[in-house]
Amino acid sequence: MSHHLEVTNLILANATYLRELELLNVLEQHRIFCKHDMAHFLDVARIAMLLCQEEQIPADPDVIYSAALLHDIGRTEEYQHHIPHDLASVHKAESILEEIACEETKKQKILNLIRHHRHPDHPNQDPALLESIESIFYRADKKSRLCFCCPACSQCNWTQDKKNMQIER
Ligand SMILES: [Fe+2]
Repeated sequence: MSHHLEVTNLILANATYLRELELLNVLEQHRIFCKHDMAHFLDVARIAMLLCQEEQIPADPDVIYSAALLHDIGRTEEYQHHIPHDLASVHKAESILEEIACEETKKQKILNLIRHHRHPDHPNQDPALLESIESIFYRADKKSRLCFCCPACSQCNWTQDKKNMQIER
């Protein structure tokens, strides 16, 4: 299998993406809770890849890494215009993927992961495989957070069972 992450690296070099990321960094400058930065995106991608291996779910690393890079970029819309960030991220991701001429099937796979990263359950879209990958991506996003050493842990609105209070392998 090729380890060349083609779409991932095209996103990383895309001017629109970099501009969105810069704005997101500015808007989160004084945020006391988890930030949505490159470290978070790569944590999500790597944890998702590990879960795929562990649960033997076939996954295209380029799809996982691309979705990870893009899944939170809609946060700028949430902060500025109160638009839910999963929807805003899908919208922004779609135009970036079009800018870099991402192939249609791959584009839809990436957008699906982004669309469901806050709500993994979607009874209207059944392919069992897709559901598994989406659930893995959802869990990777949550597992990526270091609640056990977060200074804002007690003020965070995550429920206690969602918080990562121990290191898991
Ligand atoms: Fe995230």
